[in-house]
Amino acid sequence: MRRDAALDPDTKTAILCAGIAAPSADNSQPWRFAWSGDALDVRIDADRSGRVSDTRYVLSDLAAGACIENMVIRGRSLGYVAGLQWFPSSDDELCVARIGWRREPDSDRSEPLAGAIEQRHTDRRFPWRGPVSAETRALLEAQAQRISGQQLWWPATSRERKAALNVIRQAETLRFKSPALHAELFSSIRFSAGWRGTCEESLAPAALAVEPPLRPVFQAMRRPAVMATFNRLGAAPLLGWRSAWLPIRMSPGLCLIVIPSRTRADVLAGGRALQRVWLQATLAGLSVQPYAAPGVLGLGFVPVEPAFQRTVSRVASALADLCGPGHGMVFLRLGRARSAPRRRSGRRPLASFGDFE
Ligand SMILES: Cc1cc2nc3c(=O)[nH]c(=O)nc-3n(C[C@H](O)[C@H](O)[C@H](O)COP(=O)(O)O)c2cc1C
Repeated sequence: MRRDAALDPDTKTAILCAGIAAPSADNSQPWRFAWSGDALDVRIDADRSGRVSDTRYVLSDLAAGACIENMVIRGRSLGYVAGLQWFPSSDDELCVARIGWRREPDSDRSEPLAGAIEQRHTDRRFPWRGPVSAETRALLEAQAQRISGQQLWWPATSRERKAALNVIRQAETLRFKSPALHAELFSSIRFSAGWRGTCEESLAPAALAVEPPLRPVFQAMRRPAVMATFNRLGAAPLLGWRSAWLPIRMSPGLCLIVIPSRTRADVLAGGRALQRVWLQATLAGLSVQPYAAPGVLGLGFVPVEPAFQRTVSRVASALADLCGPGHGMVFLRLGRARSAPRRRSGRRPLASFGDFE
């Protein structure tokens, strides 16, 4: 096989653009890139990671895995094969990977997922139509399994579907009940963008699919005192019902990325599998909304207030009962939307992700 020349600047840019098109929790885009020659270091951005749900970098590692997978796919479609070295520096826990690129013009460039990188997006609207056919499910499963040790779990019975719904609803409810999680959730929403605008990072309200009559109430809930009052009136379970139970009930598909262990390497690999499944779903014309709270709480690294630790343990054991060996990491709600969402989440300019031209 012939190997030659270094990456040219346009190829480097194309690879990085694919990386930043990846999803990240709350659109935090917690990535830093540094080239040395043809090797690319991918680091977690210390300024955009480590918050309460991310104390062990679980969300950042998932986003880094998704970003790296996009780059690997785009590189391959351009004739470059990626050599991946995980956590290359023992004294730098934020440096998750070093990627070496080899030009292999004779290698198989067919990489259909590359065509979905810029199309993929999160859709929080509902209801969605079905079906998610057995053939599509098999394609999604095959993509998850392309990453060693990763699996896709589907509820097989109505009992399993109900149990999955309950675990997601409990975790989503906790995001409104726990002051620490509530603060994290609302601090990632840029209300200053208005209900029609977009923003380069974090979540624009328009991306959240909140019904117009509920918008003032939702916006008021960002204040801890208002949220506490609502919670005394029993609002949190209603919010869990609206944000998770109802949309999932009104969608034909639900699946769960299952990772083999809680190590950071496996969480990163889970992010790669998540991305492959999401890109394949996009190619199949499906809309996707991830639900990460159950899996992240279930791993046991989120320091919630003592009053909520029992709920976290309940979420963890319900999740373990659902999907057997391994850890349920991210649920994906799937279905066919009537139209494409009018507004997509923004990205920061490429230059802000590192010191390069
Ligand atoms: C690890 C991870 C966790 C996420 N968790 C959720 C979630 O719990 N609920 C949700 O609606 N979106 C979730 N998202 C989707 C992000 O909010 C979304 O990717 C980000 O806002 C960028 O938008 P885009 O996917 O349309 O590009 C998650 C994404 C990732 C990668």
